[in-house]
Amino acid sequence: MATQERIGCTALQSKVMTADAAAALIAPGSTVGMSGFTGSGYPKAVPVALAARMERAHAAGDPFRIRVWTGASTGPELDGALARANGVEFRLPYNSDPIAREKINRGEMEYFDIHLSQVAPMAWQGFLGPLDTALIEISGIRPDGALIPSSSVGNNKTWLDRASQVILEVNRWQNPALEGMHDIYYGTALPPHRKPIPLVRPDDRIGEPYFRVDPAKIVAIVETDAPDRNLPFAAPDQAALAIAGHLIEFLHHEVKKGRLPESLLPLQSGVGNVANAVLTGLVDSPFEDMTAYTEVIQDGMLDLLKAGKLRMASATAFSLSPDAAAALNADMESFRHKMILRAQEMSNHPELIRRLGCIAMNGLIEADIYGNVNSTHVMGSAIQNGIGGSGDFARNAYISIFTTPSTAKGGKISTIVPQASHVDHITQDVQVIVTEQGLADLRGLSPKQRAETIMANCAHPDYRPALQDYYRRARIGSYGQQSPSLPGEALSWHQRFMQTGSMRG
Ligand code: COA
Repeated sequence: MATQERIGCTALQSKVMTADAAAALIAPGSTVGMSGFTGSGYPKAVPVALAARMERAHAAGDPFRIRVWTGASTGPELDGALARANGVEFRLPYNSDPIAREKINRGEMEYFDIHLSQVAPMAWQGFLGPLDTALIEISGIRPDGALIPSSSVGNNKTWLDRASQVILEVNRWQNPALEGMHDIYYGTALPPHRKPIPLVRPDDRIGEPYFRVDPAKIVAIVETDAPDRNLPFAAPDQAALAIAGHLIEFLHHEVKKGRLPESLLPLQSGVGNVANAVLTGLVDSPFEDMTAYTEVIQDGMLDLLKAGKLRMASATAFSLSPDAAAALNADMESFRHKMILRAQEMSNHPELIRRLGCIAMNGLIEADIYGNVNSTHVMGSAIQNGIGGSGDFARNAYISIFTTPSTAKGGKISTIVPQASHVDHITQDVQVIVTEQGLADLRGLSPKQRAETIMANCAHPDYRPALQDYYRRARIGSYGQQSPSLPGEALSWHQRFMQTGSMRG
């Protein structure tokens, strides 16, 4: 395909160069704001060239590391390549790359894990420092120089506005039918100049379909033809199917009681196999005319759109398995009017989530018997991914639901514990917990009532007696009886795992 077909602005065609030449424009020690959100729309050529340059520099005894800001997780050609080259000194706001995770947990990379809605406002506040380069994948450039976004929006608008120089990757693998799907809102500001955001329904369009950019800042354009890389979803196992079943029964019950409309309220669904299984389960439910106001569009959402159950989905990115991404790419025309991609400060905006009344469904690592949720830290100290958008949605949702299998690591760990080893979501932000064992509706319950409900409904039978024994003793020996606890003993559940490889002891 000729350059002109994707780069319609003739004045910018002279900026086309190789990935190596573009990577040479990024200085050691600088901060680079990259596109990318859950494996979608991340730059795929320049980071690899940059990693090679870093490796050459390290071999010559010159340290070459940068600070990397993104939307969320990216792909192996970005996070994996740069981490392998030992080229990242600081990373925000979310990471699921295994090599980068290892570096972070070994203390070799600084990681700022942050609510995804807050990244852009914080970048504007300025305490994160200046942004030297924006490195953004797009799907094309219009004749007037406006940028056609790619398969994720993330923080790209902010990076393009804030950066001193801009490098673009124009990826012709992305479907041209993406054009028109995005809604980029330019009405945000910092206090005291903030105004109400005029979005009252998930399908409202309040912005424009393109990114604006000052053409004088564009220093390089690199052409690519490379797929987004996401992991396939596993077929739902028995636990995921059981969780989906309990959750859908709960939603029925809420409709019957008149607490939810028959079309439910805008759905938000987190990342992972269980979340995807819940969405897939909704295909056979009687709910019609549903909407989604969520962070990412997964396979299950496409199934719901295809089945006509979901009227529309608003998100900031696609997070699709390779098969679903290829299927969407092949049939973009029939989906594009039912989907809107926005900046992550809009998809995850607390005010909008509260106003729309989202039903939030997110995964967890562990929950304690009072309903404090740990989404991020294994054994309290090792980062798994990050908080992502779970806090944006959990605190502001109409109903905040967390799902998890009742055990992890082949049954050696109970995900229901006496005291969470790290807390991301406090009990007040956790209204429903669902495991394959059952569902705990915690709304309106006191801490002791919550504990009894979670142990009875969610804990695995192998761990229930030990949890109940702990709780019985805490009812006697705790300093106070509002949230009875024996702190030293509670955390020994985790110590037991570290010493013996199992919470069973
Ligand atoms: N103790 C130790 N390890 C645990 C654990 C526990 N209590 N619970 C899970 N794990 C491990 C699993 O064994 C697995 O490890 P492995 O990759 O070595 O096999 C890993 O954590 C992921 O667990 P998995 O069961 O595959 O979970 P998932 O895909 O459903 O994801 C979270 C669960 C919590 C990691 C994921 O939901 C997440 O990152 N959440 C935070 C961000 C978020 O919610 N984003 C969505 C907002 S829009």
